[in-house]
Amino acid sequence: MKLWGGRFTKEEDKLMEVFNSSLEEDLALVEEDIAGSIAHAEMLVHCKILSQKEGEKILQGLHNIKQDIESGKLTVEGEHEDIHSFVEATLTEMIGEAGKKLHTSRSRNDQVATDLKLYAKKQALETIRALQSLNDSLEKTAAANRQIIMPGYTHLQRAQVVTFGYHLRAYIEMFKRDIKRLEHTMENLNESPLGSGALAGTTHTIDRQITAEKLGFRKPTVNFMDGVSDRDFIIELLSDFSMIMMHLSRLSEELILWSSQEFSFIKIDDAYATGSSIMPQKKNPDAAELIRGKTGKVYGALVAVLTTMKGLPLAYNKDMQEVKLPMFQAVDEVLLSVQMMDKMVTTLQVNGEQMKQAIKAGFLNATEVADYLVQKGVPFRDAHGIVGAIVLYCEEAGKSIEQLTLEELQKFSDSMEEDIFDYVEYTNLLKRGNKQEMLSK
Ligand code: ARG
Repeated sequence: MKLWGGRFTKEEDKLMEVFNSSLEEDLALVEEDIAGSIAHAEMLVHCKILSQKEGEKILQGLHNIKQDIESGKLTVEGEHEDIHSFVEATLTEMIGEAGKKLHTSRSRNDQVATDLKLYAKKQALETIRALQSLNDSLEKTAAANRQIIMPGYTHLQRAQVVTFGYHLRAYIEMFKRDIKRLEHTMENLNESPLGSGALAGTTHTIDRQITAEKLGFRKPTVNFMDGVSDRDFIIELLSDFSMIMMHLSRLSEELILWSSQEFSFIKIDDAYATGSSIMPQKKNPDAAELIRGKTGKVYGALVAVLTTMKGLPLAYNKDMQEVKLPMFQAVDEVLLSVQMMDKMVTTLQVNGEQMKQAIKAGFLNATEVADYLVQKGVPFRDAHGIVGAIVLYCEEAGKSIEQLTLEELQKFSDSMEEDIFDYVEYTNLLKRGNKQEMLSK
């Protein structure tokens, strides 16, 4: 029996039933849906809309449903349109008449909006925890490799010396911003839509403050029509997620590059790599590649929801049922990706010797040679030109700048003195100016 069967003269077409149902995906919302119903029932009793006795029966029934689902005694299935219909029908089956009163002064429209906000908040929090753990792991790996110098790149061309620890710490900053974004999303969604009804409130004297408090929201939403039709928080969450995945994907890309034969800067732990069915020697960085790949899926979810929402008139429209699955799927992918990155970062082996070797080619101290000349009074632009000429000379001679003799260097500028060699030595130069931060932070 449908919740809404009264005004219909025909059975719902089977295909329509399947097409219309969101029950399977709604499994993700079962906890939130029951929590929302509990808060609603308690409020109805408080406002004397339900009797104490009816309230007790309903609450007991809802607790039983929750337990039975958790223990596996009850499975969320059947010809129910969605989780809200399933819970109400199961409750009525369990406790009889009182179950039919639970839906007094609420609609599935304010119910689903409430469930989704509770769900988004829970997932944002879980993602924050996973990111904090990832940042702890990055910090540990960074601290252990604080002194290991390596080439820093721009345009993927060797640029200037950095430390491996410092390079990793760049990602810590990104994930810190991601955490702030998630916190902001949680704050923004912190208003309860419950009690908005279908779109226009209710004639019953309910207390929305009570349900808001019980469910952990700061206050009720201001406008009923906005309350039931707002999905901004899903878009915000997916936008936060997209940014997280973009950061994870950039780090993945670096791990993939660094673990290649060409770089050989790191080794990814065997536990997070796979082999080839034909090439016996292969060890492929699959976990990192999958993170990079899943990033596309999460962006897709964001674009799907933005597009679904863009033409909808107020208030609720069934189109909005379609924004749930992209969020559920993105939630799973993001959490797994953060956890996988955490494990890879914790276990990766760093080849400091190879990183140090890489510094020898590529004139990574050219900028500091120019800095040296500036210190001797040469204007920077002139110094830049002088060092450019030195680099050209070195390239032809197959030497690095520090391999030139003082006499050779003096041919380019008479400001060159013996102390140049000490100045441009790679570990020494990290101790000057604000570069010191790279060793300490
Ligand atoms: N299942 C719907 C959803 O997920 C909620 C139900 C609203 N249905 C309705 N006929 N107003 O969005």
